[in-house]
Amino acid sequence: MLDKLESIRDTALEEIEAADDAHTLEQVRVRYLGRKGALTQILRGLSEVSPEERKTIGQQANQAKEIIASAIEARKAALEAQAMEERALKDRVDLTLPGRKPRVGRKHPVSQVLDEITSIFDGLGFQVATGPDIETEYYNFESLNIPEGHPARDLHDTFFVRPGVVLRTHTSPVQMRVMEQIEPPVAVVAPGRTYRVDSDASHSPMFFQVEGLLVDEDVTFAGLKGTLMHFVHEYFGKDTAVRFRPHYFPFTEPSAEVDISCTVCGGQGCRICKHSGWLEILGCGMVHPEVFRFAEYDYERYTGYAFGMGVDRIAMLRHSIDSIHHLYENDLRFLEQF
Ligand code: DAH
Repeated sequence: MLDKLESIRDTALEEIEAADDAHTLEQVRVRYLGRKGALTQILRGLSEVSPEERKTIGQQANQAKEIIASAIEARKAALEAQAMEERALKDRVDLTLPGRKPRVGRKHPVSQVLDEITSIFDGLGFQVATGPDIETEYYNFESLNIPEGHPARDLHDTFFVRPGVVLRTHTSPVQMRVMEQIEPPVAVVAPGRTYRVDSDASHSPMFFQVEGLLVDEDVTFAGLKGTLMHFVHEYFGKDTAVRFRPHYFPFTEPSAEVDISCTVCGGQGCRICKHSGWLEILGCGMVHPEVFRFAEYDYERYTGYAFGMGVDRIAMLRHSIDSIHHLYENDLRFLEQF
């Protein structure tokens, strides 16, 4: 019996040593110390042994039980420590790795240019006004002295929403909306989207304009000229030449287009300025008395000037972008350059 106990103890210890995970170790425990385990059987069978043997065998069996139990505990602790170490190795954080940079958003180049333009006029005391993109023919055309049948309407390639309602073809209707709201003096700039049925390298069906309007007593063309020269010099630099070229717009009289010396070749002539040395950037003029009549302004008392510029074109000149469509394709490789 004592031999048997000894061999049970020894194989148990071997098996404990060999168990290399918690599950196998638990199976070993059950096999020896569980309710039907080898040692438990022996302890239960003690009643059948003679009283003289019972004491020694009992003692030996209990001792073996303790040895096995503590070997299991030790093995268990060792396995846990090992598992912990493995986990620590696997989940180790390498603090020397470079961090993952979050992608930072930025303003669209057109928004940047819009902000720059409006801030120059803000510095001159102009306030920002807005109007709807979906506009009535009255505000887009008629009140700006472009009556039905007027040839200027054909130049606008208008998107019609329904009869009498259009996508505004320019920001000029904001002039009328502002004048209906407030009495002179008026000094506003109106940035916003405009729409025309047109698409090539320099035209997009949706594009941006900034409108300007100043109305007061004694407003002169000289004032218009000074304001726009100031704008050009602020925006494109002091050395930029400015040229006013007579033109026709129904809502201004007299009217002009403004050219600046080519920002690419400095006026020498290049592909961008089509070898003329000049780039057209805006239209302007003195507000037509007929427009004041629609606004119910006293055109004997007040005069005013207005101007409208293409923001996309200015953004393209500023950043040497060769197709307007780059601005609206939302290609991050392009946009992230700004
Ligand atoms: N509305 C014109 C256009 O889109 C631009 C323009 C010209 C606006 C002269 C003005 C102006 O206010 O006075 O072509």
